[in-house]
Amino acid sequence: MRRRLLAPALLLLATALGCTEAGTAAPAPGPAALPAAEPDVRPLGRIIPLPASVEPGGAPYTLTAATRIGVPAGAPAVRAVAERLAGLLRPATGFRLPVVTDPAADLVLRLDPSAGALGDEGYALRSAPGRLTLTARTPAGLFRGVQTVRQQLPAAIERTTVQRRAWRIAGGTVTDTPRFPYRGAMLDVARHFFTVEEVKAYIDRIALYKYNVLHLHLTDDQGWRIAIRSRPELTSTGAATEVGGGPGGFYTQEQYKEIVRYAAAAHIEVVPEIDMPGHTHAALVSYPELNCDGRRPEPYTGIEVGFSTLCAEKEVTYAFAEDVLREIAALTPGRYVHIGGDEAKSTSPADYRTLMDRVQPLVTRHGKQVMAWHQLTGDATPVPGALIQYWGLDRTPAEEKEEVARAARAGAGIVVSPADRAYLDMKYDADTPLGLKWAGTVSVRRAYDWDPGTHLPGVPESAVRGVEAPLWTETLSTPEQLDTMAFPRLPGLAELGWSPAAGRDWDTYRIRLGEQAHRFDALGIGWYRSPEVPWPAR
Ligand code: ACM
Repeated sequence: MRRRLLAPALLLLATALGCTEAGTAAPAPGPAALPAAEPDVRPLGRIIPLPASVEPGGAPYTLTAATRIGVPAGAPAVRAVAERLAGLLRPATGFRLPVVTDPAADLVLRLDPSAGALGDEGYALRSAPGRLTLTARTPAGLFRGVQTVRQQLPAAIERTTVQRRAWRIAGGTVTDTPRFPYRGAMLDVARHFFTVEEVKAYIDRIALYKYNVLHLHLTDDQGWRIAIRSRPELTSTGAATEVGGGPGGFYTQEQYKEIVRYAAAAHIEVVPEIDMPGHTHAALVSYPELNCDGRRPEPYTGIEVGFSTLCAEKEVTYAFAEDVLREIAALTPGRYVHIGGDEAKSTSPADYRTLMDRVQPLVTRHGKQVMAWHQLTGDATPVPGALIQYWGLDRTPAEEKEEVARAARAGAGIVVSPADRAYLDMKYDADTPLGLKWAGTVSVRRAYDWDPGTHLPGVPESAVRGVEAPLWTETLSTPEQLDTMAFPRLPGLAELGWSPAAGRDWDTYRIRLGEQAHRFDALGIGWYRSPEVPWPAR
Protein backbone atom coordinates (compact mmCIF):
# COMPACT_ATOMS: atom_id res chain seq x y z
CA MET A 1 0.00 0.00 0.00
CA ARG A 2 1.15 3.47 -0.75
CA ARG A 3 1.21 5.74 2.18
CA ARG A 4 1.38 9.50 2.28
CA LEU A 5 2.00 10.26 5.89
CA LEU A 6 2.44 13.95 5.50
CA ALA A 7 0.05 15.57 3.10
CA PRO A 8 1.40 18.69 1.34
CA ALA A 9 -0.58 21.17 3.42
CA LEU A 10 0.61 19.47 6.57
CA LEU A 11 4.15 19.74 5.31
CA LEU A 12 3.67 23.50 4.95
CA LEU A 13 2.26 23.64 8.44
CA ALA A 14 5.04 21.50 9.82
CA THR A 15 7.57 23.81 8.20
CA ALA A 16 5.82 26.77 9.78
CA LEU A 17 6.08 25.01 13.12
CA GLY A 18 9.79 24.42 12.71
CA CYS A 19 9.63 20.80 11.56
CA THR A 20 11.81 20.06 8.57
CA GLU A 21 10.26 16.86 7.26
CA ALA A 22 7.90 14.08 8.32
CA GLY A 23 8.44 13.22 11.92
CA THR A 24 11.58 15.32 12.29
CA ALA A 25 11.04 18.08 14.76
CA ALA A 26 13.43 20.99 14.93
CA PRO A 27 15.46 20.91 18.15
CA ALA A 28 13.24 21.54 21.16
CA PRO A 29 10.28 22.78 19.08
CA GLY A 30 8.34 23.64 22.21
CA PRO A 31 4.64 24.28 22.13
CA ALA A 32 3.50 26.43 19.25
CA ALA A 33 0.03 27.48 18.30
CA LEU A 34 -1.89 26.37 15.24
CA PRO A 35 -3.78 28.95 13.19
CA ALA A 36 -6.97 29.98 14.97
CA ALA A 37 -9.18 28.76 12.11
CA GLU A 38 -9.31 25.36 10.47
CA PRO A 39 -8.28 24.93 6.83
CA ASP A 40 -11.28 25.07 4.50
CA VAL A 41 -10.51 21.61 3.18
CA ARG A 42 -8.78 19.28 5.61
CA PRO A 43 -5.96 17.37 3.88
CA LEU A 44 -7.05 13.78 3.31
CA GLY A 45 -6.05 11.49 6.16
CA ARG A 46 -5.29 14.24 8.66
CA ILE A 47 -7.57 12.67 11.24
CA ILE A 48 -7.39 10.54 14.39
CA PRO A 49 -6.79 7.64 14.29
CA LEU A 50 -4.36 8.02 11.40
CA PRO A 51 -5.59 5.90 8.47
CA ALA A 52 -3.52 2.95 7.27
CA SER A 53 -3.24 4.23 3.71
CA VAL A 54 -3.99 7.60 2.12
CA GLU A 55 -3.65 8.58 -1.52
CA PRO A 56 -4.63 12.22 -1.89
CA GLY A 57 -5.47 13.48 -5.35
CA GLY A 58 -7.98 15.33 -7.43
CA ALA A 59 -10.50 17.98 -6.55
CA PRO A 60 -12.68 17.72 -3.45
CA TYR A 61 -16.17 16.34 -3.03
CA THR A 62 -18.77 18.88 -1.91
CA LEU A 63 -21.74 18.08 0.29
CA THR A 64 -24.67 20.20 -0.92
CA ALA A 65 -28.35 20.85 -0.26
CA ALA A 66 -29.02 18.39 -3.10
CA THR A 67 -26.90 15.59 -1.65
CA ARG A 68 -28.61 12.23 -1.32
CA ILE A 69 -27.14 9.29 0.57
CA GLY A 70 -27.36 6.09 -1.45
CA VAL A 71 -27.66 2.62 0.09
CA PRO A 72 -28.35 -0.79 -1.45
CA ALA A 73 -31.94 -2.02 -1.36
CA GLY A 74 -32.73 -4.65 1.26
CA ALA A 75 -29.75 -3.91 3.51
CA PRO A 76 -31.20 -2.56 6.78
CA ALA A 77 -27.84 -2.55 8.59
CA VAL A 78 -26.36 -0.33 5.87
CA ARG A 79 -29.41 1.91 5.95
CA ALA A 80 -28.98 2.24 9.72
CA VAL A 81 -25.39 3.45 9.24
CA ALA A 82 -26.53 5.83 6.50
CA GLU A 83 -29.29 7.25 8.72
CA ARG A 84 -26.72 7.71 11.43
CA LEU A 85 -24.49 9.61 8.99
CA ALA A 86 -27.42 11.73 7.85
CA GLY A 87 -28.32 12.42 11.48
CA LEU A 88 -24.77 13.62 12.11
CA LEU A 89 -24.68 15.87 9.06
CA ARG A 90 -28.18 17.40 9.06
CA PRO A 91 -28.06 19.78 12.06
CA ALA A 92 -25.00 21.80 11.02
CA THR A 93 -25.59 21.70 7.25
CA GLY A 94 -29.33 22.25 7.40
CA PHE A 95 -29.54 19.91 4.36
CA ARG A 96 -32.27 17.29 3.95
CA LEU A 97 -29.86 14.45 3.06
CA PRO A 98 -32.43 11.78 2.24
CA VAL A 99 -31.30 8.16 2.37
CA VAL A 100 -32.27 6.56 -0.95
CA THR A 101 -31.74 3.37 -2.92
CA ASP A 102 -31.09 5.29 -6.15
CA PRO A 103 -27.66 4.26 -7.55
CA ALA A 104 -27.22 7.82 -8.86
CA ALA A 105 -26.97 9.26 -5.32
CA ASP A 106 -23.79 11.30 -4.83
CA LEU A 107 -22.80 10.02 -1.36
CA VAL A 108 -22.80 6.24 -1.50
CA LEU A 109 -22.47 3.56 1.18
CA ARG A 110 -21.90 0.12 -0.24
CA LEU A 111 -21.04 -3.35 1.01
CA ASP A 112 -18.57 -5.43 -0.93
CA PRO A 113 -18.50 -8.94 0.56
CA SER A 114 -15.53 -9.79 -1.64
CA ALA A 115 -13.37 -6.98 -0.19
CA GLY A 116 -11.63 -9.46 2.10
CA ALA A 117 -8.65 -7.17 2.69
CA LEU A 118 -10.94 -4.73 4.50
CA GLY A 119 -11.61 -7.32 7.20
CA ASP A 120 -14.34 -6.90 9.81
CA GLU A 121 -13.96 -3.16 10.34
CA GLY A 122 -12.01 -1.73 7.42
CA TYR A 123 -13.37 0.62 4.78
CA ALA A 124 -12.34 2.45 1.64
CA LEU A 125 -13.30 6.07 1.09
CA ARG A 126 -13.13 7.60 -2.38
CA SER A 127 -13.65 11.31 -2.70
CA ALA A 128 -14.03 13.16 -5.99
CA PRO A 129 -16.18 15.98 -7.37
CA GLY A 130 -19.81 14.84 -7.41
CA ARG A 131 -19.22 11.50 -5.71
CA LEU A 132 -18.15 10.22 -2.31
CA THR A 133 -18.10 6.45 -1.92
CA LEU A 134 -17.66 4.48 1.25
CA THR A 135 -17.10 0.76 0.73
CA ALA A 136 -16.73 -1.93 3.38
CA ARG A 137 -17.17 -5.65 3.79
CA THR A 138 -19.40 -5.13 6.87
CA PRO A 139 -21.75 -2.51 8.32
CA ALA A 140 -19.19 -2.06 11.13
CA GLY A 141 -16.62 -1.09 8.51
CA LEU A 142 -19.04 1.45 7.04
CA PHE A 143 -19.63 2.84 10.53
CA ARG A 144 -15.89 3.31 11.07
CA GLY A 145 -15.70 4.95 7.65
CA VAL A 146 -18.47 7.36 8.64
CA GLN A 147 -16.22 8.58 11.45
CA THR A 148 -13.60 9.36 8.83
CA VAL A 149 -16.11 11.27 6.71
CA ARG A 150 -17.07 13.21 9.81
CA GLN A 151 -13.50 14.10 10.71
CA GLN A 152 -12.60 15.07 7.14
CA LEU A 153 -15.34 17.70 7.24
CA PRO A 154 -14.79 20.97 9.11
CA ALA A 155 -15.33 20.58 12.87
CA ALA A 156 -18.34 22.88 12.59
CA ILE A 157 -20.16 19.81 11.23
CA GLU A 158 -20.48 18.71 14.88
CA ARG A 159 -22.53 21.77 15.84
CA THR A 160 -26.24 21.44 16.50
CA THR A 161 -27.30 24.62 14.70
CA VAL A 162 -26.98 25.51 11.00
CA GLN A 163 -23.53 26.80 10.04
CA ARG A 164 -23.18 28.76 6.82
CA ARG A 165 -20.05 27.43 5.15
CA ALA A 166 -18.76 25.06 2.46
CA TRP A 167 -18.64 21.36 3.32
CA ARG A 168 -15.84 19.81 1.31
CA ILE A 169 -13.84 16.59 1.61
CA ALA A 170 -10.41 16.52 -0.02
CA GLY A 171 -10.08 14.38 -3.14
CA GLY A 172 -8.39 10.98 -3.11
CA THR A 173 -8.67 7.57 -1.51
CA VAL A 174 -8.36 6.33 2.06
CA THR A 175 -8.02 2.58 2.55
CA ASP A 176 -8.12 1.79 6.21
CA THR A 177 -8.15 -1.23 8.51
CA PRO A 178 -7.39 -1.46 12.23
CA ARG A 179 -4.13 -2.82 13.58
CA PHE A 180 -5.85 -4.57 16.53
CA PRO A 181 -9.31 -6.10 16.82
CA TYR A 182 -9.89 -4.93 20.43
CA ARG A 183 -9.92 -1.16 21.05
CA GLY A 184 -11.53 -0.58 24.37
CA ALA A 185 -12.49 2.21 26.71
CA MET A 186 -13.43 1.36 30.29
CA LEU A 187 -15.71 3.39 32.49
CA ASP A 188 -15.88 2.79 36.25
CA VAL A 189 -19.52 3.36 37.15
CA ALA A 190 -18.99 1.74 40.57
CA ARG A 191 -16.89 4.31 42.45
CA HIS A 192 -19.23 7.01 41.21
CA PHE A 193 -22.43 6.16 39.41
CA PHE A 194 -23.07 7.55 35.93
CA THR A 195 -26.57 7.56 34.43
CA VAL A 196 -27.63 5.83 31.22
CA GLU A 197 -27.58 9.20 29.41
CA GLU A 198 -24.08 9.93 30.70
CA VAL A 199 -22.83 6.53 29.56
CA LYS A 200 -24.40 7.14 26.14
CA ALA A 201 -22.53 10.43 25.89
CA TYR A 202 -19.29 8.55 26.61
CA ILE A 203 -20.19 6.01 23.91
CA ASP A 204 -20.66 8.89 21.45
CA ARG A 205 -17.21 10.17 22.30
CA ILE A 206 -15.42 6.85 21.88
CA ALA A 207 -17.29 6.03 18.66
CA LEU A 208 -15.81 9.13 16.99
CA TYR A 209 -12.33 7.65 17.47
CA LYS A 210 -13.25 4.16 16.21
CA TYR A 211 -13.21 2.38 19.58
CA ASN A 212 -15.15 -0.88 19.42
CA VAL A 213 -15.40 -1.98 23.07
CA LEU A 214 -16.96 -0.31 26.10
CA HIS A 215 -15.88 -2.12 29.27
CA LEU A 216 -18.17 -1.22 32.17
CA HIS A 217 -16.71 -1.75 35.65
CA LEU A 218 -20.09 -2.45 37.25
CA THR A 219 -19.24 -3.55 40.77
CA ASP A 220 -16.76 -2.58 43.43
CA ASP A 221 -16.43 -2.01 47.16
CA GLN A 222 -18.33 1.26 47.02
CA GLY A 223 -21.34 0.16 45.00
CA TRP A 224 -23.12 -2.50 42.92
CA ARG A 225 -24.59 -0.99 39.76
CA ILE A 226 -26.51 -3.69 37.88
CA ALA A 227 -29.80 -5.27 38.91
CA ILE A 228 -29.58 -9.03 39.43
CA ARG A 229 -33.13 -10.34 39.69
CA SER A 230 -32.23 -13.41 41.74
CA ARG A 231 -30.24 -11.22 44.17
CA PRO A 232 -32.32 -8.10 44.79
CA GLU A 233 -30.31 -6.91 47.81
CA LEU A 234 -27.34 -6.19 45.54
CA THR A 235 -29.15 -3.12 44.31
CA SER A 236 -31.63 -2.38 47.10
CA THR A 237 -28.71 -2.26 49.55
CA GLY A 238 -25.45 -2.44 47.59
CA ALA A 239 -26.20 0.34 45.09
CA ALA A 240 -27.09 3.02 47.63
CA THR A 241 -23.52 4.17 48.20
CA GLU A 242 -20.59 5.64 46.27
CA VAL A 243 -17.26 7.28 46.98
CA GLY A 244 -17.71 10.33 49.16
CA GLY A 245 -21.13 9.30 50.44
CA GLY A 246 -23.25 10.30 47.43
CA PRO A 247 -26.49 8.51 46.57
CA GLY A 248 -25.04 5.92 44.17
CA GLY A 249 -27.47 4.28 41.78
CA PHE A 250 -27.81 1.30 39.48
CA TYR A 251 -29.08 0.19 36.08
CA THR A 252 -32.21 -1.92 35.86
CA GLN A 253 -31.79 -4.78 33.42
CA GLU A 254 -33.88 -2.85 30.89
CA GLN A 255 -31.66 0.20 31.29
CA TYR A 256 -28.55 -1.93 30.91
CA LYS A 257 -29.98 -3.46 27.73
CA GLU A 258 -30.59 0.07 26.48
CA ILE A 259 -26.88 0.85 26.97
CA VAL A 260 -25.94 -2.35 25.15
CA ARG A 261 -28.31 -1.49 22.28
CA TYR A 262 -27.00 2.06 22.03
CA ALA A 263 -23.43 0.79 21.92
CA ALA A 264 -24.34 -1.86 19.34
CA ALA A 265 -25.74 0.84 17.07
CA ALA A 266 -22.21 2.29 17.11
CA HIS A 267 -20.78 -1.20 16.50
CA ILE A 268 -19.36 -1.16 20.01
CA GLU A 269 -19.39 -4.31 22.15
CA VAL A 270 -20.11 -3.89 25.87
CA VAL A 271 -17.94 -5.96 28.22
CA PRO A 272 -19.53 -6.10 31.69
CA GLU A 273 -17.19 -6.53 34.64
CA ILE A 274 -18.18 -8.20 37.90
CA ASP A 275 -15.01 -7.85 39.93
CA MET A 276 -14.17 -10.89 42.11
CA PRO A 277 -13.01 -12.06 44.62
CA GLY A 278 -11.72 -8.68 45.87
CA HIS A 279 -13.50 -5.38 45.25
CA THR A 280 -16.67 -7.09 46.55
CA HIS A 281 -17.53 -5.10 49.66
CA ALA A 282 -20.86 -3.84 48.27
CA ALA A 283 -21.92 -7.47 47.70
CA LEU A 284 -20.70 -8.44 51.18
CA VAL A 285 -22.83 -5.65 52.67
CA SER A 286 -25.84 -6.81 50.65
CA TYR A 287 -25.60 -10.52 51.51
CA PRO A 288 -23.94 -11.04 54.92
CA GLU A 289 -23.74 -14.83 54.43
CA LEU A 290 -21.09 -14.21 51.77
CA ASN A 291 -18.70 -13.09 54.51
CA CYS A 292 -16.62 -15.88 56.06
CA ASP A 293 -17.83 -14.74 59.49
CA GLY A 294 -21.41 -14.28 58.31
CA ARG A 295 -21.55 -10.70 59.62
CA ARG A 296 -22.76 -7.68 57.65
CA PRO A 297 -20.00 -5.06 57.39
CA GLU A 298 -20.64 -1.30 57.23
CA PRO A 299 -20.89 0.20 53.73
CA TYR A 300 -17.69 1.73 52.39
CA THR A 301 -17.33 5.11 50.67
CA GLY A 302 -13.55 5.66 50.80
CA ILE A 303 -10.98 4.92 48.07
CA GLU A 304 -8.74 2.26 49.60
CA VAL A 305 -8.48 -1.09 47.82
CA GLY A 306 -7.70 -4.67 48.77
CA PHE A 307 -9.73 -5.17 51.96
CA SER A 308 -12.69 -7.23 50.73
CA THR A 309 -12.93 -10.85 49.60
CA LEU A 310 -15.48 -13.49 48.78
CA CYS A 311 -15.21 -16.56 51.02
CA ALA A 312 -13.61 -19.48 49.15
CA GLU A 313 -14.74 -22.16 51.58
CA LYS A 314 -18.47 -21.38 51.53
CA GLU A 315 -20.74 -22.93 48.91
CA VAL A 316 -23.01 -19.86 49.05
CA THR A 317 -20.17 -17.98 47.32
CA TYR A 318 -20.43 -20.16 44.23
CA ALA A 319 -24.24 -20.08 44.21
CA PHE A 320 -23.95 -16.29 44.32
CA ALA A 321 -21.39 -16.18 41.51
CA GLU A 322 -23.56 -18.52 39.43
CA ASP A 323 -26.66 -16.33 39.87
CA VAL A 324 -24.81 -13.17 38.99
CA LEU A 325 -22.84 -14.54 36.05
CA ARG A 326 -25.87 -16.34 34.60
CA GLU A 327 -27.88 -13.12 34.54
CA ILE A 328 -24.95 -11.04 33.29
CA ALA A 329 -24.27 -13.54 30.49
CA ALA A 330 -27.94 -13.38 29.51
CA LEU A 331 -27.69 -9.57 29.29
CA THR A 332 -24.56 -9.77 27.13
CA PRO A 333 -24.72 -10.28 23.38
CA GLY A 334 -20.95 -9.75 23.27
CA ARG A 335 -18.32 -12.40 23.68
CA TYR A 336 -16.80 -11.53 27.05
CA VAL A 337 -17.69 -11.36 30.71
CA HIS A 338 -14.92 -9.73 32.76
CA ILE A 339 -14.51 -11.26 36.22
CA GLY A 340 -11.93 -8.84 37.59
CA GLY A 341 -9.44 -10.80 39.66
CA ASP A 342 -7.30 -7.78 40.55
CA GLU A 343 -6.01 -6.61 43.92
CA ALA A 344 -7.38 -9.55 45.91
CA LYS A 345 -5.03 -8.62 48.71
CA SER A 346 -7.26 -10.12 51.42
CA THR A 347 -7.60 -13.46 49.66
CA SER A 348 -4.92 -16.10 50.33
CA PRO A 349 -3.19 -17.44 47.19
CA ALA A 350 -4.79 -20.85 47.79
CA ASP A 351 -8.25 -19.34 48.17
CA TYR A 352 -7.73 -17.16 45.08
CA ARG A 353 -6.90 -20.23 43.03
CA THR A 354 -9.92 -22.13 44.41
CA LEU A 355 -12.23 -19.21 43.69
CA MET A 356 -10.98 -18.48 40.19
CA ASP A 357 -10.88 -22.18 39.28
CA ARG A 358 -14.56 -22.44 40.19
CA VAL A 359 -15.77 -19.09 38.87
CA GLN A 360 -14.21 -19.19 35.39
CA PRO A 361 -16.22 -22.25 34.26
CA LEU A 362 -19.42 -20.47 35.30
CA VAL A 363 -18.68 -17.90 32.59
CA THR A 364 -17.87 -20.46 29.91
CA ARG A 365 -20.87 -22.61 30.84
CA HIS A 366 -23.08 -19.63 30.04
CA GLY A 367 -21.52 -19.32 26.63
CA LYS A 368 -19.13 -16.43 27.29
CA GLN A 369 -15.36 -16.06 27.28
CA VAL A 370 -13.56 -15.05 30.44
CA MET A 371 -11.86 -11.69 30.55
CA ALA A 372 -9.84 -10.80 33.66
CA TRP A 373 -7.13 -8.50 34.95
CA HIS A 374 -3.68 -10.03 34.63
CA GLN A 375 -3.43 -11.27 38.24
CA LEU A 376 -5.37 -14.27 36.96
CA THR A 377 -2.17 -15.41 35.24
CA GLY A 378 -0.07 -15.41 38.40
CA ASP A 379 -2.29 -16.72 41.13
CA ALA A 380 -4.58 -18.93 39.05
CA THR A 381 -4.71 -20.35 35.52
CA PRO A 382 -6.80 -18.75 32.79
CA VAL A 383 -9.26 -21.12 31.12
CA PRO A 384 -8.84 -21.67 27.37
CA GLY A 385 -10.12 -18.69 25.42
CA ALA A 386 -9.54 -16.24 28.27
CA LEU A 387 -8.60 -12.68 27.45
CA ILE A 388 -6.11 -11.16 29.88
CA GLN A 389 -5.98 -7.45 30.59
CA TYR A 390 -2.50 -6.28 31.57
CA TRP A 391 -2.50 -3.15 33.75
CA GLY A 392 1.06 -3.17 35.11
CA LEU A 393 3.58 -0.37 35.11
CA ASP A 394 7.12 0.00 33.77
CA ARG A 395 8.25 -0.79 37.33
CA THR A 396 6.08 -3.92 37.66
CA PRO A 397 8.42 -6.81 38.59
CA ALA A 398 9.71 -8.83 35.63
CA GLU A 399 8.33 -12.03 37.18
CA GLU A 400 4.80 -10.64 37.06
CA LYS A 401 5.23 -9.65 33.41
CA GLU A 402 6.61 -13.12 32.72
CA GLU A 403 3.42 -14.67 34.10
CA VAL A 404 1.47 -12.73 31.50
CA ALA A 405 3.94 -13.82 28.80
CA ARG A 406 3.53 -17.43 29.92
CA ALA A 407 -0.27 -17.14 29.61
CA ALA A 408 0.19 -15.66 26.13
CA ARG A 409 2.42 -18.60 25.15
CA ALA A 410 -0.32 -20.92 26.41
CA GLY A 411 -2.77 -19.23 24.04
CA ALA A 412 -4.37 -16.41 26.03
CA GLY A 413 -5.07 -13.17 24.21
CA ILE A 414 -3.68 -10.04 25.85
CA VAL A 415 -5.23 -6.58 26.03
CA VAL A 416 -2.74 -3.96 27.15
CA SER A 417 -3.75 -1.10 29.40
CA PRO A 418 -0.59 -0.20 31.33
CA ALA A 419 -1.65 2.00 34.23
CA ASP A 420 1.29 4.36 33.70
CA ARG A 421 0.31 4.92 30.03
CA ALA A 422 -3.34 4.10 29.45
CA TYR A 423 -5.13 4.96 32.72
CA LEU A 424 -7.09 8.09 31.94
CA ASP A 425 -7.63 8.83 35.62
CA MET A 426 -3.93 9.43 36.27
CA LYS A 427 -3.09 13.11 36.66
CA TYR A 428 -1.49 14.73 33.59
CA ASP A 429 1.08 16.40 35.82
CA ALA A 430 1.52 17.29 39.47
CA ASP A 431 -0.83 20.26 39.11
CA THR A 432 -3.83 18.36 37.70
CA PRO A 433 -6.64 18.94 40.22
CA LEU A 434 -8.51 15.69 39.52
CA GLY A 435 -7.28 12.15 39.29
CA LEU A 436 -4.82 9.94 41.12
CA LYS A 437 -1.08 9.44 40.76
CA TRP A 438 -0.25 6.03 42.22
CA ALA A 439 0.94 4.97 38.75
CA GLY A 440 2.74 8.30 38.24
CA THR A 441 1.57 11.21 36.15
CA VAL A 442 0.59 10.45 32.54
CA SER A 443 1.12 13.32 30.13
CA VAL A 444 -0.56 13.38 26.72
CA ARG A 445 2.74 12.38 25.14
CA ARG A 446 3.35 9.55 27.61
CA ALA A 447 -0.14 8.15 26.91
CA TYR A 448 0.61 8.20 23.15
CA ASP A 449 4.30 7.50 22.74
CA TRP A 450 4.54 3.73 23.20
CA ASP A 451 3.74 0.61 21.23
CA PRO A 452 1.11 -1.88 22.43
CA GLY A 453 2.56 -4.55 20.12
CA THR A 454 5.95 -4.61 21.82
CA HIS A 455 5.17 -3.23 25.27
CA LEU A 456 5.27 -6.48 27.21
CA PRO A 457 8.50 -8.45 27.08
CA GLY A 458 7.89 -11.98 25.85
CA VAL A 459 4.40 -11.20 24.54
CA PRO A 460 4.50 -11.26 20.73
CA GLU A 461 2.31 -8.88 18.80
CA SER A 462 0.35 -11.91 17.57
CA ALA A 463 -0.91 -12.43 21.16
CA VAL A 464 -1.90 -8.80 21.61
CA ARG A 465 -5.59 -8.40 20.86
CA GLY A 466 -5.54 -4.68 21.48
CA VAL A 467 -5.49 -1.73 23.79
CA GLU A 468 -7.82 -0.39 26.45
CA ALA A 469 -8.07 3.03 28.07
CA PRO A 470 -9.61 2.67 31.55
CA LEU A 471 -11.22 5.62 33.30
CA TRP A 472 -11.51 4.96 37.04
CA THR A 473 -13.73 7.33 38.95
CA GLU A 474 -12.59 7.53 42.56
CA THR A 475 -12.09 11.29 42.04
CA LEU A 476 -14.55 11.84 39.18
CA SER A 477 -18.26 12.31 39.71
CA THR A 478 -19.53 14.38 36.77
CA PRO A 479 -19.46 13.97 32.97
CA GLU A 480 -17.44 17.19 32.75
CA GLN A 481 -14.78 15.65 34.97
CA LEU A 482 -14.71 12.52 32.78
CA ASP A 483 -14.14 14.79 29.77
CA THR A 484 -11.19 16.65 31.27
CA MET A 485 -9.38 13.41 32.04
CA ALA A 486 -10.28 11.61 28.80
CA PHE A 487 -9.60 14.55 26.50
CA PRO A 488 -7.13 14.76 25.01
CA ARG A 489 -5.66 11.34 25.91
CA LEU A 490 -8.55 9.17 24.69
CA PRO A 491 -7.98 9.90 20.94
CA GLY A 492 -4.29 8.97 21.22
CA LEU A 493 -5.02 5.59 22.75
CA ALA A 494 -7.52 5.01 19.95
CA GLU A 495 -4.72 5.64 17.46
CA LEU A 496 -2.48 3.13 19.23
CA GLY A 497 -5.18 0.52 18.74
CA TRP A 498 -6.06 1.40 15.16
CA SER A 499 -3.11 2.82 13.24
CA PRO A 500 -0.03 1.03 11.87
CA ALA A 501 2.95 1.55 14.18
CA ALA A 502 5.13 2.64 11.26
CA GLY A 503 3.02 5.69 10.50
CA ARG A 504 2.80 7.04 14.01
CA ASP A 505 5.05 9.62 15.60
CA TRP A 506 4.49 12.16 18.32
CA ASP A 507 5.68 15.18 16.34
CA THR A 508 3.04 14.85 13.66
CA TYR A 509 0.42 13.42 16.02
CA ARG A 510 0.54 16.49 18.25
CA ILE A 511 -0.43 18.65 15.27
CA ARG A 512 -3.36 16.40 14.35
CA LEU A 513 -4.38 16.39 18.01
CA GLY A 514 -4.16 20.16 18.22
CA GLU A 515 -6.58 20.41 15.31
CA GLN A 516 -9.08 18.22 17.17
CA ALA A 517 -9.64 21.11 19.59
CA HIS A 518 -12.08 22.60 17.08
CA ARG A 519 -14.04 19.36 17.19
CA PHE A 520 -13.93 19.06 20.99
CA ASP A 521 -15.30 22.59 21.21
CA ALA A 522 -18.01 21.98 18.63
CA LEU A 523 -19.08 18.86 20.54
CA GLY A 524 -19.11 20.71 23.86
CA ILE A 525 -16.31 18.60 25.31
CA GLY A 526 -14.43 20.36 28.11
CA TRP A 527 -10.83 19.30 27.46
CA TYR A 528 -7.49 19.80 29.16
CA ARG A 529 -5.20 22.25 27.35
CA SER A 530 -1.96 20.30 27.65
CA PRO A 531 1.13 22.47 27.07
CA GLU A 532 2.62 19.62 25.01
CA VAL A 533 0.24 20.21 22.12
CA PRO A 534 0.11 23.13 19.63
CA TRP A 535 -3.55 24.06 20.11
CA PRO A 536 -5.23 26.59 17.84
CA ALA A 537 -4.47 30.18 18.82
CA ARG A 538 -7.25 31.69 20.90
C1 ACM B 1 -6.83 -2.11 38.63
O1 ACM B 1 -6.42 -0.97 38.34
N1 ACM B 1 -6.96 -2.47 39.89
C2 ACM B 1 -7.17 -3.06 37.60
